[in-house]
Amino acid sequence: MNDGTESKFLSYLDESRRSFKNGDYINSLIQLEKSFDFANQKKEKEMIKLRILLRELVGDYVRALEDIKNYDISDKVVECVLLAWTGEYKRIQDYILSAIDGSNFNEIDLSKFMGLAGRRIDLLINNIDLEKTPPYDPIDEIENPECVVEHLLALNKCDLLRDIENKIIDSYPKKMVIDKLERYNSLDTLPKEHFDLFKDLTYVNGWLSIDEAWTLFYFSQQVPSKQKIVEIGAWKGKSTISLARGSLSGSKPKVHSIDIHEGLEGISGPTLNTFKDNLKSRYLLNNVEIHKDYSTVVGRSWEEGPIGLLFIDASHEYKDVLNDYLSWKEHLGEESFVLFHDANMKGPNKLIREKILNDSDMEPIGYMDSLFVFKKNTNSRDPSRDDFWDIFLSDREYAYEHWIDSQNNKIRKDIEKIFKDLESDL
Ligand SMILES: C[S@@+](CC[C@H](N)C(=O)[O-])C[C@H]1O[C@@H](n2cnc3c(N)ncnc32)[C@H](O)[C@@H]1O
Repeated sequence: MNDGTESKFLSYLDESRRSFKNGDYINSLIQLEKSFDFANQKKEKEMIKLRILLRELVGDYVRALEDIKNYDISDKVVECVLLAWTGEYKRIQDYILSAIDGSNFNEIDLSKFMGLAGRRIDLLINNIDLEKTPPYDPIDEIENPECVVEHLLALNKCDLLRDIENKIIDSYPKKMVIDKLERYNSLDTLPKEHFDLFKDLTYVNGWLSIDEAWTLFYFSQQVPSKQKIVEIGAWKGKSTISLARGSLSGSKPKVHSIDIHEGLEGISGPTLNTFKDNLKSRYLLNNVEIHKDYSTVVGRSWEEGPIGLLFIDASHEYKDVLNDYLSWKEHLGEESFVLFHDANMKGPNKLIREKILNDSDMEPIGYMDSLFVFKKNTNSRDPSRDDFWDIFLSDREYAYEHWIDSQNNKIRKDIEKIFKDLESDL
């Protein structure tokens, strides 16, 4: 480098590092961008890695993924984290399968992909003893061998599963995997519809786990024909398809899907076209009424009669999720179900714990991954379990926040290291 190029590079890089230290990640990114014009080509890869991590930190996942693609950065773990944030689980699953199929079987990476590709079964519906369920911790989830098993099963890769059984058992808790394999060895223990639903959802992006999707299906199946199913927050339709499929295999109540479809910052652009295509290709358009609007607006003018199932998965800010609930509460029919997604996140968690658990009309029914289920007017609510649910949800929120903090700490450390390396190389 010559004629001040290097000093310009250093000054932008230094400004970027200082902003980063002060927690101003956006400015750190802006300054980093400026330094690119003066950077030595040899440093390009490191600079891109830095940009990917900063983009991840500020939630600009789409552009971080573009960097990985455009510059052929082959950090599969970072890529899978970003794919999980953008709801592209299918691509993670493909990596899992190629990691298993290929000769470069890497157990650590594999378990990380698996952890991201599917959240573990945490179904507390009906006959599973709540107290005996181990405490949930998303950190464990990342290393969770159950995910390996679940996903291979869901993908119908039982032979592959048996092939890798020994490899998994060498390094992971043996009993858990064997139990699981035994449970699934006879595949008819799971209803055929479970596999059909999984297949149907494989190419639809979104954050719903297979078991959450199955839970939506299961409860929609029970809604009487005269009541309606209402979904707030559809994005590309993963939950809509699950609700509509459940409805069709039950009494066929109409599904009303509400979403502004303007996209999610850093994650996607407008979603209406993809959403419609996903329904159309599955012949579900006749069963779903689409409302491209704010949930509160549709709620105010609702004249379609009582609701048998309300699914809430829109904004997770407390005030928004509270407004969603309040605008629809009065339309709930007798013995209707209310399901909240991401109940481990601050907003929905606070609403459930502070408002709904205190409402004696609402009975907590169960929890699947991050999906919390209530039933209205059952007259069978057991007050002695109220504390249990409060602690249960508080644990989950804590674990989730802790997981986010530790992820962000790791990213920050990686960023610091790259800043140091870049500067010391000069
Ligand atoms: C997390 S996504 C929904 C994911 C979806 N349930 C699935 O299974 O993939 C949240 C969606 O809520 C929508 N949204 C946010 N606030 C809204 C509001 N007030 N009214 C309607 N939709 C809203 C966003 O447009 C976004 O598509």
